[in-house]
Amino acid sequence: MKHFDLAGGGTIPGLGLGTWKSAPGEVGPVIREAIRLGYRHIDCARAYGNEKEIGAAIEGAIHDGDVTRDDLFITSKLWNDSHAKDAVRPALEKTLADLRLDHLDLYLMHWPVSLKPKVGFPRSADDLISEADLPLTETWAAMEACHDAGLSRHLGVSNCNARRIDLLVDAARVPVAVNQVELHPYLAQDGLRAHAAKRGVHLTAYSPLGSPDRPDVMRRAEDPDLLAHPTIAGVAAKHDATPAQVLLAWALARDTSVIPKSTNPGRLAQNLAAADLVLDADDMATIAGMDAGYRFVEGTFWCPPGSPYSVADLWAE
Ligand code: A2P
Repeated sequence: MKHFDLAGGGTIPGLGLGTWKSAPGEVGPVIREAIRLGYRHIDCARAYGNEKEIGAAIEGAIHDGDVTRDDLFITSKLWNDSHAKDAVRPALEKTLADLRLDHLDLYLMHWPVSLKPKVGFPRSADDLISEADLPLTETWAAMEACHDAGLSRHLGVSNCNARRIDLLVDAARVPVAVNQVELHPYLAQDGLRAHAAKRGVHLTAYSPLGSPDRPDVMRRAEDPDLLAHPTIAGVAAKHDATPAQVLLAWALARDTSVIPKSTNPGRLAQNLAAADLVLDADDMATIAGMDAGYRFVEGTFWCPPGSPYSVADLWAE
């Protein structure tokens, strides 16, 4: 398994388990099985609504001697309704209580979008707070205080473009170690990847399989099927691998960590085995031809009429 260096010291395991869309009632046994199989990096978030069950499963795995806390790399994310400076630490403490941990390995700002307290997703522009009224740097400073208190070894962001990386890296006292973004061959993000590398920020790829189980609000008729793409199928056949394994090996070959979600034991094992699949330069060049700048997760839900946010500005290069 490849590990990638993080700013500030330490490393992140290249292939982790995603838990977005893993339902409570289902995710506990999945975590136990994943740890048994050898997953050591688990990507969580308050917003996924399943941290309590994940915490119980992690505690069970440690208690039963499957793994030690130090073997694990656990990420969670600050939800958008807790960006105000006094709200950050209580939000992280709630996540730690749910996950039954005394510290995280990585705490990310989930979106560079602020919501009023207790809002999950905005019903109208009234539920949003603009970047001018609640600067991301204020949220970041509160996250740094949590780092100082030992609540997370590393800090990072998610869904940030180059402008926001610059804003935070320039202001940061604790390094911006990671930016977790949608990343797959339809959205290769070469520009952002080069920029992040220049600023010392590691990228983690979410929705690496195109999130075929994403909710209906994130579906459009024209959405392509990444797992069924003939280019991916061709590379998979050449290596006697599956399309999912090719997508994951592609991410690792580009030095991005990757967090496929599965709740199926066979696919959990299959995805982990992708860490051993090595693609050659021809494969990488062929797959590079698929890049279409295509987002499955556009962020339109942040942009009701009158919103201070726009899809164009979120992703502006
Ligand atoms: P399942 O959980 O039933 O395995 P992403 O990580 O891009 O969000 O994608 C997750 C989706 O991809 C889920 O629907 C998951 O289904 C499916 N998936 C995960 N691993 C594989 C695989 N190896 N082959 C096909 N589909 C997969």
